[in-house]
Amino acid sequence: MIAADADTTGVQAPLRLLVVCLGNICRSPMAEGALRARLREAGLDGSVVVDSVGTGGWHVGDPPDERAIATASRHGVDISGLRGRQLQASDFHEFDWLLCADDSNLRAVKALRPHDARAGVALFMKWAGLRGAIPDPYTGTAEDFERVWTLVDRAAQGVVERLRQ
Ligand code: 4NP
Repeated sequence: MIAADADTTGVQAPLRLLVVCLGNICRSPMAEGALRARLREAGLDGSVVVDSVGTGGWHVGDPPDERAIATASRHGVDISGLRGRQLQASDFHEFDWLLCADDSNLRAVKALRPHDARAGVALFMKWAGLRGAIPDPYTGTAEDFERVWTLVDRAAQGVVERLRQ
């Protein structure tokens, strides 16, 4: 059966992905940058909408952490123009998937998910075909940020592979 709101024009609507962490200044903006770069490289940037949010509201309107900006920059990705945003109820209707950095984020998002939500909720790494979680580097070192980049970039490549299948 075809859904009443299905797109019958033959033009596929973009997939809408929202990456979620706690503060939206370290992991999820790095993931957003890596995803945008890998999708562009694969010619899929027109097929996917990417955004990121935090479950917490402490950094609404803030640029990413300077260590996150520097790490992404070392890998050729500019995330300095991103600004912090807090998860809101409408995100569960406007996105297809809310992709969480770690289990704590996953629990927080599931607790807020309305019954009529459109969005699925998953761990970002798992949705990308990988194992594990993305550890919070906020109180860590430059090396911890570099490790986060490695993880989010691998996951971004996993997303590209998933979309190609
Ligand atoms: P993120 O890291 O969740 O990767 O953005 C954090 C940033 C800020 C805070 C916690 C985690 N904070 O408590 O302000």
